[in-house]
Parts: sequence; C-alpha cells; structure tokens
Amino acid sequence: MPQVSQALRALKAASTVAFNARALELQRQGVDVIAMTAGEPDFQPPAHVLQAAHDAIQRGMTKYTASEGTRELRLAIVDKHARENGLSYAIDEVIVSTGGKQVLYNAFMAMLDPGDEVIVPAPYWVSYPAQVQLAGGVTVPVPTTAADGFVPDPGAIAAAITPRTRAIVVNSPGNPTGAVWPAAVLRAIADLAERHDLWLITDELYEHLVYDGEFTAVAQWYPERTLLVHGASKSYALTGWRIGWGCGPAPLIKAMGTLQGHVTNNANAVAQHAARVALESVEETAAFLAMTRAAYRERRDVMVRGLNGLGLPAATPQGAFYVMADTRSIDADETVAAIALLERARVSVVPGTDFLAPGLVRFSYATSMANIETAIARIGAFLDA
Ligand SMILES: Cc1ncc(COP(=O)(O)O)c(C=O)c1O
Repeated sequence: MPQVSQALRALKAASTVAFNARALELQRQGVDVIAMTAGEPDFQPPAHVLQAAHDAIQRGMTKYTASEGTRELRLAIVDKHARENGLSYAIDEVIVSTGGKQVLYNAFMAMLDPGDEVIVPAPYWVSYPAQVQLAGGVTVPVPTTAADGFVPDPGAIAAAITPRTRAIVVNSPGNPTGAVWPAAVLRAIADLAERHDLWLITDELYEHLVYDGEFTAVAQWYPERTLLVHGASKSYALTGWRIGWGCGPAPLIKAMGTLQGHVTNNANAVAQHAARVALESVEETAAFLAMTRAAYRERRDVMVRGLNGLGLPAATPQGAFYVMADTRSIDADETVAAIALLERARVSVVPGTDFLAPGLVRFSYATSMANIETAIARIGAFLDA
C-alpha cells in the first residue's frame, strides 16, 4: 500500500480520544466504567433548541447555506457579543464553522507561514499544537503551575517572544485546567501582542462556565488583531451539532472563509438554525445556563473535596468542567496512574502527558453527581487496596 503523507505520519492522535476509546472498549466487554474523559456536557440541550432543529427540517432548511454561515446566525452572533461582552462586530467579521475546532484550524492556516511560532500557555488543550503543526507552525509552550492556579506569567510569555512569533493563544476558562485568568493578566498578554504586532487568539468556548471570578472578553482591547473563538458546544450542550464561530478583522475572516469554502463549506444548516434560536432566545437560554452552571459548580466542589480527601491534591478550578489532580502518589508517570485508575478503579480519566502536565491527570466532572460520588468511592477503595 502507498504510504500516508509525512505530515500525517508525524501527527499524533489525541490522547483524549485514545483514552476514551479504551474506556469504551472496557464498557463493551461489560465492565462498568465511569467515564470522566470526555469534555462534553451530560445535559440534554434546551428543549426549545431541539424544537428549533425539528422546525428547520420541517421548513426545508436542508440546503447549502452561505459558506461562512447564514446571515441570520451571524447577526445573532453579532448581537450576542454586543449584548454580553460589549464588543461590536460587523457581519463580515463573523464566520460560522463546524465547531470551534474548525475555527481554530482555519485560523492557524490563515495566520501561519512555515516555521512561524505560536505561544501557548501550558497545560493546554491538545488540539492547539496539532493544528499549529498541520499549518506548518511551531508551538512554543509557556508552562504554568498548579501553585500559581495555572495562570500564566506575562513576563514568561514576553520572554518566549522571538522574531518568528506570530500568535499567542489564550484560553480562559481553560481546558484542561479550568483556570480563569484575571483581567490584568489577560490585558498584559494583549499588550504584548500589540507591542510585538502578533495575532491574539482567544478561545472562549467555556465563557458561560465560570463559578468564581469573572469572565473577561479579551477582544475588548485590540479587536483588530484578536480572533475570538466561540461556539455552541459547551454552553448549550450541543457538542454533536458542530457549531462554532470566529469573530475578528474582516481580512482574516475572509481568508478563513476561503479555506473553509474549499474544505467543508458551510456548517450543518439545521444546526445553524438551532444555534441561532439558542442565541436569540435570551431568557430561556439564560435559565438553561444558570441551571447547568449551578449543577457543575456543585459537582466541582464534591470532586475537588473527594480527590483531596483521597490524597490526590487538586486545586479548585474556577471554570469549565475539569479538575487536574496530582496522581504521583499512584505513580510518578501520569499515564501509568491513568491506566491504574481505569483498570483498577474503573474510572476513566486523561493523563496530562499531551497537555504538558506531568504528574497530573484530568477528571471531567461533566457527569452526574451519582457518578462522581461512585468514582470517588471506587478510587478510595483502589487506593486502600
Ligand atoms: C479549549 C477548547 N477549545 C475548543 C474546543 C472545540 O469545541 P467544538 O469544536 O466542539 O466547538 C474544545 C472542545 O473540547 C475545547 O476544550
């Protein structure tokens, strides 16, 4: 058989996917595994959003749309960011893609030339370095620590800037750490982007999942160099519907649209209509967000208390739905610890290796309270044994 390309041979599969597959395989064999691997809300989407998708099908909204998204959805996105974040975008500064993931991929492809560097504070979401690599770029990680709440030091970011730096990625609330970075830190990072003429990519998928502290809209300072990445997956529990969007300067959005026009064309038409309804039905959606946020907060507290009680130190994350726990008391190698948790406690997690988080594993608490309590009890029994 002919070989696959060098670029793809060099690309690693996401460890989140690999560990999820391992857990699913055990489940298939009849083993009762509690899955804490996936970054996916366990809630059903709001009922009125489901209804909107039914309506879209009935009304024949089943054709291709404009590649960059329907005008109606893009206007709803413009309104959302004006209403909630005080940002003002024109419609040609908005693109709708197949998940936030495609927005990011389009962006790296549109921003990077071969060898260009992208600064990404670590621990980071695994797809940033993979996408940067595919776009010919080089990821420059800037480590953060649990002791500092996984908040980057702007001085360390400044020190990582070279003549090849093209972009800085910001992700607050963040995956995998759940950290919410203070406004002053975000402002300092934005100022660095301005001073060095860099793109600033702000991944705001978890905007609505903040439990302590406050979300900060990074695009408020230098909108002309900032790409805001957002989507419907995490806020409205619409992961499988694949709606994400990017807001930024028109020439960048245009380049991303040109790429998308050749690769996938528009995001799913039915899902675009449903996402529009989610954004426009301000009160119903706010009630859904308040309900889910309260549930996640309660789960987070039980999770953090449980892990610390078991001697697996975990700082309290302020947002998203992940907790990073120190598993060195199980094994110095986090992959060995994650395998032990899966095979001996029947709780599936993701080792920090690919997030650049040695000694740590990620637990997702986007699962029921009953599952969380059972998981803590199982891990306790495993550690006692
Ligand atoms: C930090 C972060 N950014 C982006 C995404 C992409 O989400 P989606 O493609 O579902 O919009 C995810 C999903 O896990 C994420 O955790």
